[in-house]
Amino acid sequence: MDDLKAKYLSQIAEASDEAVLEDIRLAAVGKKGEVSLKMRELGRMTAEERQVAGPALNALKAEINSALAAKKAGLADAALDARLRSEWLDVTLPTRPDRHGTIHPISQVTEEVTAIFADMGFSVAEGPRIDTDWYNFDALNIPGHHPARAEMDTFYMHRAEGDDRPPHVLRTHTSPVQIRSMEATGAPMRIICPGGVYRADYDQTHTPMFHQVEGLAIGKDISMANLKWVLEEFVKSYFEVDGVDLRFRASHFPFTEPSAEVDIRCSWEGGTLKVGEGDDWLEILGSGMVHPKVLLAGGIDPEQWQGFAFGMGIDRIAMLKYGIPDLRAFFDSDLRWLRHYGFAALDVPTLHGGLSR
Ligand code: DAH
Repeated sequence: MDDLKAKYLSQIAEASDEAVLEDIRLAAVGKKGEVSLKMRELGRMTAEERQVAGPALNALKAEINSALAAKKAGLADAALDARLRSEWLDVTLPTRPDRHGTIHPISQVTEEVTAIFADMGFSVAEGPRIDTDWYNFDALNIPGHHPARAEMDTFYMHRAEGDDRPPHVLRTHTSPVQIRSMEATGAPMRIICPGGVYRADYDQTHTPMFHQVEGLAIGKDISMANLKWVLEEFVKSYFEVDGVDLRFRASHFPFTEPSAEVDIRCSWEGGTLKVGEGDDWLEILGSGMVHPKVLLAGGIDPEQWQGFAFGMGIDRIAMLKYGIPDLRAFFDSDLRWLRHYGFAALDVPTLHGGLSR
């Protein structure tokens, strides 16, 4: 037994890889291995012999098994070390030009919008895409019977049978983030909230999921004049033109009073859009002074504070700036489309670099 032990322990110690180790295991403690065969002889021994040989064989088997396990773990560690040493990657190398991954226009435009508003002191706020109907509607002064609820083609979440709380909704706009941000930080504040929103609608200019950016500024003496300046600055920077004509059209939103829709002067000559010249007007956003009830819902005293808000379609302004005719293609994941309209990964939009270069 001592010979067996010495033989196998030294073989195990010298095994150079897992295949060799497995051969040793079979030869020693496998079904027909030497130790196993010896154990079978126990039946033919006398009771006294068995009392000595049995425990000794069991101990031998256990010792070989644990040597095998330890060696196996050691070999695996060494193999991993060797792999780690040979498979390395220099992350400081430049990206390869033959890699075709691109930044989606929605991501790029979201970055552009963020850069422009950040420069004017707005920070980015976010909220959940699945929200309560209180945040999506009531808090924004859209009560249960309000026609705006029906107009929004809302997706309602399922509630269990017998649970008659109002269902959650897929947010129909980014406006609920106004309320969440008021609750989170209080006045004064200056935020934008970009993100996905949902409505049951599908054609060339509508998809069931699309993107908006909400803006909200609250202060002691904020007026429509501030709204107008901020939006003009935004449109000039975003479309990268020196001058723009904005037209504020009186409108109605439950969450603002007064409310205005904003159009920009443009031309469609030759089928391409030019912003800042021509005789056409293009609607790009809704806006207004935040309704006192909305401030109250967000826990802000409307006697002391006032603010402006606006909501704009990110996909829409992406289509306009980059000449993308069909909204549905944004979400088709068609590689050819992504290569054509996508942006290089290192084209991070900055104001000083020129947004779209
Ligand atoms: N939430 C509106 C929509 O989805 C857009 C909007 C209009 C947002 C006016 C605003 C606003 O913040 O003041 O159609």
